[in-house]
Amino acid sequence: MKNYIAIEAKNIVTQFGQSVIHDEVSFKIQRGEIFGLLGGSGSGKTTLLREMIMLQKTSGGQMLVLGTDVMKISSKMAQKLRQKWGVLFQFGALFTSLTILENVMIGMREYTNLPDWIIEESALMKLSMVGLPPKVANMYPSELSGGMKKRAALARALALDPKLLFLDEPTSGLDPQSARTFDELIVTLRDTLGITVVMVTHDKDTMANVLDRFIILGNKKVLFEGNMELLKQTRDDELKKFLS
Ligand SMILES: Nc1ncnc2c1ncn2[C@@H]1O[C@H](COP(=O)(O)OP(=O)(O)OP(=O)(O)O)[C@@H](O)[C@H]1O
Ligand SMILES: [Mg+2]
Repeated sequence: MKNYIAIEAKNIVTQFGQSVIHDEVSFKIQRGEIFGLLGGSGSGKTTLLREMIMLQKTSGGQMLVLGTDVMKISSKMAQKLRQKWGVLFQFGALFTSLTILENVMIGMREYTNLPDWIIEESALMKLSMVGLPPKVANMYPSELSGGMKKRAALARALALDPKLLFLDEPTSGLDPQSARTFDELIVTLRDTLGITVVMVTHDKDTMANVLDRFIILGNKKVLFEGNMELLKQTRDDELKKFLS
């Protein structure tokens, strides 16, 4: 059964100095699921995501990612595990001095011994996978629209064929139409690649149309875990705010 769980947070406590951000936060993310981290600003969504990808240490509890406790891992294992996920950060910047193709190639150059022409072919394939035309390969980030930049950053996150994809507010800053197209892309990628997607979002449309399940963080705790159907049945005023 354990195999069906991609990520399990067990009683996670996070503290910055005197201030407690998470007080025994627990939840499970199934493999192949598009899972949302929701909550008000400052509720600790980004911090929780950073803890999953080993950019932030927890103060207590266990974070199991693909069956491995990321707090008790050797640096060699950590290096291996990092190659199993791709990340699109909240302000996920591409390297401005590199072309789009070079941006996508960067991880493969670092982590594989493949010859450059194979890396290039593979990067071109990733660009087409996210719906970017081949001509953008030799363009620089400044020459692309916001939506195209997000796609390029997504292609880079997919470069090493990850099992997990982490997205922090992927549709923020996009116009509504680009946001919906990006949402559809995420669903298509999950359906075709079978990856597990963990996404921080404020976007009500994304919540309703993309997420299979989600948690809502508040008052340092998990206020809710489940899907939209279940949330609609809530009588809690705090939770009703998330239904718009
Ligand atoms: N490295 C840090 N040192 C001290 N405090 C931090 C640190 N990182 C985050 N915090 C604090 O933890 C709290 C949660 O921050 P976090 O960025 O996780 O919130 P968030 O839910 O992602 O908010 P938003 O929706 O605004 O992005 C905030 O009060 C923030 O100031
Ligand atoms: Mg955040």
